[in-house]
Amino acid sequence: MRLFLEDEAATTALAERFRAVLPDSLSGLTVLLVGELGAGKSTFARGLIRAMGHKGPVPSPTYTLVEPYQLPSGNVYHVDLYRIASVEELRFLGWNELDDGLRLVEWPDRAPELANSADIRLTLSYDGAGRNVQIDGLSERGQQLIADIN
Ligand SMILES: Nc1ncnc2c1ncn2[C@@H]1O[C@H](COP(=O)(O)OP(=O)(O)OP(=O)(O)O)[C@@H](O)[C@H]1O
Ligand SMILES: [Mg+2]
Repeated sequence: MRLFLEDEAATTALAERFRAVLPDSLSGLTVLLVGELGAGKSTFARGLIRAMGHKGPVPSPTYTLVEPYQLPSGNVYHVDLYRIASVEELRFLGWNELDDGLRLVEWPDRAPELANSADIRLTLSYDGAGRNVQIDGLSERGQQLIADIN
């Protein structure tokens, strides 16, 4: 699935559509947010976390690595691997304990092995003043979810 997102509002609207197709149980669901600096990864994550009922700010996890949210529909972990150098560091930060909720991962390319156990990959890229997004299902669960987006 490929879409043109003309502005920030379009990225947020996509996050809202994504919210609408999330399964009842978010446990172990992993969404990779790929794209260069400023591509809109955090904008999508923020839109999704807010669409799931979070009212306050959604700070960037660049320094904390993980920002957890307890929301009515389940736990969400907003993860930023920009400062991570290997999959070992990922284990060290407690990645395996984040399996009771939805993991939204910016800069997943820092730990390429993640793609093996992830469900969905959103790839954002610059296109003029807007962005292109490509959405790929990496697991059967992920593919089903994408098929429901409309
Ligand atoms: N579809 C879009 N079209 C144009 N601008 C957008 C779009 N989506 C988001 N933006 C803008 O892009 C800027 C950077 O967004 P954001 O912080 O989400 O990027 P990021 O990919 O998380 O960057 P980083 O790699 O630094 O974490 C923001 O100013 C945001 O408003
Ligand atoms: Mg970001």
